[in-house]
Amino acid sequence: MIEIRRATRDDWVTIMELYTAANHEIDTRYGRGVSMALLTDGIEHALSNDDAVFVAWDDQALASTPIGVIAWTHTPLCREGQVVGFGTYVEPEFRRQGVASMLRACAAEHCRQKGYKTIEGIAGVANVAGLQSVLSDGFAIVGYLVEKQL
Ligand SMILES: CC(C)(COP(=O)(O)OP(=O)(O)OC[C@H]1O[C@@H](n2cnc3c(N)ncnc32)[C@H](O)[C@@H]1OP(=O)(O)O)[C@@H](O)C(=O)NCCC(=O)NCCS
Repeated sequence: MIEIRRATRDDWVTIMELYTAANHEIDTRYGRGVSMALLTDGIEHALSNDDAVFVAWDDQALASTPIGVIAWTHTPLCREGQVVGFGTYVEPEFRRQGVASMLRACAAEHCRQKGYKTIEGIAGVANVAGLQSVLSDGFAIVGYLVEKQL
């Protein structure tokens, strides 16, 4: 059975392992991983501010295995009422079962309760799964990431 639970500092290692796997996958597939230092600061900020950090667990009779993660937080650079997301990650063998949607629903509910109004994140244009899954969860494309070699 898959269960989504609010993460605490006790889950720090689990959260970082899941985000390291996410970053590795995005980096190797799309050449677009983010700085782990930035990610670490973001998760730390989310936990310190009681913002939305959730882990998905595969609960079996004898063991509970972490299979997904999400973190949304309001940082000092955010607009009023806005949170930013550090990406959703689901272990490959658990994909296409609605786990990312469940994680986003939990994060959204927590953020609504805290009075936040919008969530903003980044999805690489080649990341079909990432883009399709946010679009199917009601996100809209509001801009383009632009880049130039200097
Ligand atoms: C993106 C990711 C989080 C989606 O997780 P997931 O649990 O498989 O997503 P869900 O099962 O909730 O998918 C919901 C919907 O998203 C869309 N979707 C998800 N994966 C898709 C894919 N590979 N191709 C096309 N559409 C996809 C579908 O519409 C899907 O609904 P359906 O299965 O009924 O067709 C997962 O693929 C992942 O961890 N990828 C690596 C990390 C990453 O890229 N994160 C996103 C950064 S923006």
